[in-house]
Amino acid sequence: MEWGMANRLAQLVQADGHCLFLPVDHGYFQGPTRKLEEPRKTIEPLQPYADAFFMTRGVLRTSVDPGNTKPIILRVSGGTSVVGKDLANEGITTSMEEVIRLNASAVGMSVFIGTDYEKESLLNLARLVSEGERYGIPVMAITAVGKELEKRDARYLALACRITAEMGARIVKTYWCKDFEKVTRGCPVPVVMAGGPQVDTELEVFEFVYDGIQKGAIGVNLGRNIWQNDYPVAMIKALRAVIHKKATPQEAQEIYDSVKNKELSSLKVKAVKKV
Ligand code: 5RP
Repeated sequence: MEWGMANRLAQLVQADGHCLFLPVDHGYFQGPTRKLEEPRKTIEPLQPYADAFFMTRGVLRTSVDPGNTKPIILRVSGGTSVVGKDLANEGITTSMEEVIRLNASAVGMSVFIGTDYEKESLLNLARLVSEGERYGIPVMAITAVGKELEKRDARYLALACRITAEMGARIVKTYWCKDFEKVTRGCPVPVVMAGGPQVDTELEVFEFVYDGIQKGAIGVNLGRNIWQNDYPVAMIKALRAVIHKKATPQEAQEIYDSVKNKELSSLKVKAVKKV
């Protein structure tokens, strides 16, 4: 592997072989998503705890200070919206020249396998990989399910991950599912897990991330279950412990509770001072 590609991958995947990527790209097809209405306010408190951020060029330029940032994975696919006809009909939105100008460490795009746009999205991925390889920019493929959340099973995800790896993606992002080892076993490149819509309890998130890591994922690219939580810093610190310190779900819950309680007490002190 050439130095530039190896260097960019090393910025993303930490020395322990694991990673916590924080996606804040949801607005590119959903508009002002809950708790991501003002991206800068969502990003800043979480910045110290993420290994990299996943976002579009628009949010990067407007909401991230160039003098103080973690590595950026640039979302370079889009062109559809939740109110449009078909989410799967995406194209490439950002040239490789701009990716380099923005000093991104990698790019990411969604691939919609099993849809009417399967061929276009796979050929877009192949083209993006060819361009990325020319300049040493890794491509993260996102096995997107659009609104069809029921597609998140081992059979479909293993197929989708394998195909995107065969197209040359350096990292594949997919969803956790039951029998997750079937997904990682069939995928010759590192796999990271997304979270999907916010689930009911923090423990559920710690449990699936823990299970996925035991079964071969190198980390997460997980957004809403962090920044839509009422205590996002507590959530990201607890997840860091699962990913980088082998914490169990119960240990992660203790970290979450303790950071949350500290935040609550400092809020109470501030309220008393005001009175
Ligand atoms: C949405 C994405 C996100 O990056 C991905 O879904 C991860 O975020 P979440 O954990 O909120 O599902 O590709 O555009």
